[in-house]
Amino acid sequence: MSTGQSFYITTPIYYPSDLPHIGHGYTTVAVDALARWHRQAGDDTWMLTGTDEHGQKMLRAAAANGVTPQEWVDRLVTESWFPLLRTLDVANDDFIRTTQPRHEERVQEFVKALYDRGYIYAGEYEALYCVGCEEFKPEAEIVDGTGAFEGLKVCAIHSKPLELLQEKNYFFKLSEFQDKLLELYKTEPDFVRPESARNEVVSFVRSGLKDLSISRSAFDWGITVPWDPSHVIYVWVDALLNYATAVGYGTDPAQFERRWPAYHVVGKDILRFHAVIWPAMLMAAGLDVPRGVFAHGWLLVGGEKMSKSKLTGIAPTEITDVFGSDAYRFYFLSAIAFGQDGSFSWEDLSARYQAELANGFGNLASRTTAMIEKYFEGVVPPASEDTDGDREIQRIVADAATGADAAMERFRPDEAIAAIWTIVDALNGYITENAPWALAKDPAQRPRLGTVLYTAAEGLRALAVLLSPFMPEATQKLWIALGHAGRLQDQPLREAGAWGVLVPGTSVNGIAPLFPRVEQA
Ligand code: MSP
Repeated sequence: MSTGQSFYITTPIYYPSDLPHIGHGYTTVAVDALARWHRQAGDDTWMLTGTDEHGQKMLRAAAANGVTPQEWVDRLVTESWFPLLRTLDVANDDFIRTTQPRHEERVQEFVKALYDRGYIYAGEYEALYCVGCEEFKPEAEIVDGTGAFEGLKVCAIHSKPLELLQEKNYFFKLSEFQDKLLELYKTEPDFVRPESARNEVVSFVRSGLKDLSISRSAFDWGITVPWDPSHVIYVWVDALLNYATAVGYGTDPAQFERRWPAYHVVGKDILRFHAVIWPAMLMAAGLDVPRGVFAHGWLLVGGEKMSKSKLTGIAPTEITDVFGSDAYRFYFLSAIAFGQDGSFSWEDLSARYQAELANGFGNLASRTTAMIEKYFEGVVPPASEDTDGDREIQRIVADAATGADAAMERFRPDEAIAAIWTIVDALNGYITENAPWALAKDPAQRPRLGTVLYTAAEGLRALAVLLSPFMPEATQKLWIALGHAGRLQDQPLREAGAWGVLVPGTSVNGIAPLFPRVEQA
């Protein structure tokens, strides 16, 4: 068991009725890389992901397919959502489904607690609802329909007609939390990140909060309101609570105490739920608010937010089948500034795979191990006197390790990879400059040749450790090739920049290309 500080991190729970696409995969691998980083650094880490299985959207999709909603979600979760985690090499600690009893029972308990505390009341409601968003839409997100939807009000995100709903509902007194939330954003400036997301949330809350309708009576695919069985709990209230029910809220106080509060990573489309409604719900229940909410941007394909319903959806396997899971992880986490939108294109993915992975990192690994085999019978030579150039590499490795850790603390995997990549670039330059193949021709230069190859191999050792949260598969192969005893994921990450860990005399094995040439259709 780890003794480090607690680091509990979550992905949103996904609607299983959409097939997983690269947008879902993006959030998931970002959270997995952050979790792996902290786990390997010795923090008491817990990574949660899961599926959001109630609500009208699911009910309709099931009906359209002629099965019960439970059969529908069971099928999708087993056939599509569990496999996604294997496709992307995700090391989650738990997977929560909102139809599990451990969740449903605790949600009822939580909502009952808010009711008993006087934060829930019955009222009348009439408003435009988007089933795609599972949300009553604010004025700003309602637009006039065009084409087939001429004359109708449509959702700005889904471009589909909104439905006018009129019901008796239970309401949560969200409006009472305006000042407390503003105080939270002020005293914890990092509660919402990045800055642009924080500003959006602050101005939204400043403009005034309305009470939130938290129950529905028009359909029954949801968790029953404990004191009124004719209503089910609003799917977003149900869904947000997964973060607490999964770590023992109401059942396992020791586990809850150890894990909670969490960091939530979400797409910017669902920021308000996480940065406004969720902390208010927790405040009302007398629980700690999350440690922070990080909103990342959208993946754009052909300039549009990628989505299944707009037919721009790309399945993660389309990428991993050709390039592998490491390349998927590396590409999305390095090519897009975390927090901003980023465009996906096959050309860009292919170009980066070739330049950075195959020619940059992969080639460095192959040629270094090959030269140790060729010139030193596969045994890591000792380093002798070092030069300024050698010390420069040592400094770059130390700085990269510190810089990457600081970037991961800021939830910036892209900046962490950029810091680590300074090692790849510097070592490739170092090898070209020192030309070991020329040194090898002169027996008098043998000590110097040893130093150069030791420096390259020790740099690779640091790279294997630092890149393992991002590319678990390739770094594991490299680790084995470098002859290391012990598991790569046990290497203390925050000490990866220390020099001289690789012991001269270690046997090195040749390595098949880490990133082989790909044939694209
Ligand atoms: N079920 C809710 C979340 C409940 S959390 C308590 C939901 N699910 S979702 O399946 O629609 O997707 C949620 C997340 O998928 C988004 O927040 C985002 O993280 C990710 N993405 C979906 N489409 C995306 C892009 N085009 N680009 C980037 N991320 C995307 O909302």
